[in-house]
Amino acid sequence: MTKTNRGNVICVSHPLVEHSLTVLRDYRTTTEEFRRHADTVSKIILIEATKHLSTKVKNIETPLAPFTGRQLNDKVIVVPVLRAGLAMLIALRDFLPAVSVGFIGLERDEQTAQAREYYQKMPKIFASHIVMVIDPMLATGGSFDNTVAALKKKGAKRIVLVSIVSAPEGVKLLQERHPDVMIITGAIDDHLNAKKFIVPGLGDFGDRYFGT
Ligand code: PRP
Ligand code: URA
Repeated sequence: MTKTNRGNVICVSHPLVEHSLTVLRDYRTTTEEFRRHADTVSKIILIEATKHLSTKVKNIETPLAPFTGRQLNDKVIVVPVLRAGLAMLIALRDFLPAVSVGFIGLERDEQTAQAREYYQKMPKIFASHIVMVIDPMLATGGSFDNTVAALKKKGAKRIVLVSIVSAPEGVKLLQERHPDVMIITGAIDDHLNAKKFIVPGLGDFGDRYFGT
């Protein structure tokens, strides 16, 4: 896996990501195919996003001999941004089946593109927790910005944002407001259009993934 590193932003580059992203972007892709490729691309990006989790020694026995292995040490909280973030939560389940999950519900107003919070339920957050916020689309950055602000208010100090497609405008906003936060994404597209949709993008992720 290769990656482009721009300050606190990592753009994951992998042939499987490029392939699946092309399927996701194609307007002819069916809901079934969209879900399958969203799962593939999420998994690869999430592998990169979990790369720096710490591990600790674990002594076990194989059927043949004692073995000193390692197990995950960091405590992770994952926060899917409802509703599209649920697609990435499903992908993460295979890697971190016991992870604590906090929820935030944000919906962009179709006229102003401002995110409005309609739901929030978080586990207790400690400064030592790695809080991974997952949302496939980083457009204006408003949804991630609101989420990060809410998490910092609750004590989060180690926040990682994970998206599938990002717009340069949103990345810039988050870099300015939250230089302490890492962003891992599958693509940084060209620009936002007048309706604040990512171009070329893939359209409305939630509508396409949930078939609405
Ligand atoms: C989409 C997407 C992000 C947000 C990104 O959500 O899933 O949460 O827009 O845009 P921003 O960076 O400009 O805030 P949407 O409001 O369409 O809700 P949904 O997930 O319920 O479809
Ligand atoms: N939300 C989406 O689902 N797509 C965009 O292009 C922008 C916000």
